[in-house]
Amino acid sequence: PTANIGVVGLAVMGSNLARNLASREGNTVAIYNRSHEKTEQLVAAHPEAEFVPASSYEEFAASLTTPRTAIIMVKAGRATDAVIDALIEVFEPGDIIVDGGNALFTDTIRREKAVRETGINFVGAGISGGEEGALNGPSIMPGGSDESWVTLGPILRSIAAVAEGEPCVTHVGHDGAGHFVKMVHNGIEYADMQLIAEAYDLIRRGTGKTPAEIADVFAEWNRGELESYLIEITAEVLRQVDAATGKPLVDVILDQAGAKGTGAWTVQTALSLGVPVSGIAEATFARSLSSHPEQRAVSGDLPGPAEGLSVDDVDAFIEDVRLALYASKIVAYSQGFDEIRAGAAEYDWSIDLGAIAKIWRGGCIIRAQFLNRIAEAYDVEPGLPVLLTAPYFVEALGRAQAAWRRVVAEAAAAGIPAPAFSSSLSYYDGLRAERLPASLIQGQRDFFGAHTYKRIDKEGTFHTLWSGDRTEIEAEDTH
Ligand code: 6PG
Repeated sequence: PTANIGVVGLAVMGSNLARNLASREGNTVAIYNRSHEKTEQLVAAHPEAEFVPASSYEEFAASLTTPRTAIIMVKAGRATDAVIDALIEVFEPGDIIVDGGNALFTDTIRREKAVRETGINFVGAGISGGEEGALNGPSIMPGGSDESWVTLGPILRSIAAVAEGEPCVTHVGHDGAGHFVKMVHNGIEYADMQLIAEAYDLIRRGTGKTPAEIADVFAEWNRGELESYLIEITAEVLRQVDAATGKPLVDVILDQAGAKGTGAWTVQTALSLGVPVSGIAEATFARSLSSHPEQRAVSGDLPGPAEGLSVDDVDAFIEDVRLALYASKIVAYSQGFDEIRAGAAEYDWSIDLGAIAKIWRGGCIIRAQFLNRIAEAYDVEPGLPVLLTAPYFVEALGRAQAAWRRVVAEAAAAGIPAPAFSSSLSYYDGLRAERLPASLIQGQRDFFGAHTYKRIDKEGTFHTLWSGDRTEIEAEDTH
């Protein structure tokens, strides 16, 4: 055996990851794909890479030094289970199977438990950065056992992106922790993308600027506190001209957003955990709304305001939108980190939130300058209960909030949907509120279901005899 690491599944992500591994000092990479042709093609296309091609799982296992370590890069779901089953047949106790796909973290928890019974280690690792990241340096979020991290750590460090001198990989926590964190990464990605899309839409409708001109606005923003990969590529997409029609590409792309499910998982999980990730949820629902053409077709005649958005001071408006975007982005990240904290508590993972912010600084889709501020916030206060209450963000929100309100109000008045902007602002004001109308909800619940309530002025649980003489009695706590 000569290979220290193997890759199973040689579609684009798998091939690129295998090439990345092979390009790093000290790695020899065993490769296997269900159809052997792909394996041969990869070897032929990259004579520079030290690959050990295998045509069967037996051959694959035999080519690996022990403890054998294999990264699976196949479609999440059944295909992953099939590869795991095949590897278990040919691997031995102490070996390590890594699932690098976008698996649902509860599947990873289940798989880890099942594989552990064989003595083999199973590691669910979130890998972000798309095709380019896989090839040149992704951000990697591995879960799994401490034992597997001993072998896996150096290998993953060798291929990860580097941000400010540090590799963008950390042992996130046990079993499904890595895939959980990757899931939330994608939820934040959805929110960030939706917020950017709303900013673009408002600027376009409010100022009449062309996509190419708005590309310049984003390029400018990318030099400031919004600096990030998503802002950068937004400028590139907006500048692109369709060869066939000569129109801006963004105007000929069908306006129905796809989704492979990780955003929905983030929201579903947050609902179960009781964490309000409203910005992420709005972003996910905004994609759903966009992709129901039959509903949109019949809704086109719904009444709206007579006037559209008309902006007098273009520069001031663009600055308002920038601040609204920044504030809403702070909300999205804060909600995402809250979900990670809640997930860690629920599943008994010890997750270092500051370390997560750091490994997202490079390689991944949501990489941004801004993540340094998050890391700093957790450095100062690791147990910070709400990220956006850290002094840096309080200052930024203070600077942005008036503009944020103006933008949301103007969008509403002009009938322009800005769901992520406005729900983020509502969340922010909900956090700020000294008193919430939840007291009325408790009253209603007590009225129709004797669900009881607490009082602000004394201990205990109470119920009003609504259908009787409406006096209050002490009650059993029924929540
Ligand atoms: C990443 C991306 C990656 C993928 C998304 C796309 O971190 O590299 O998030 O995982 O591009 O799954 O998701 P949708 O198809 O749901 O937009």
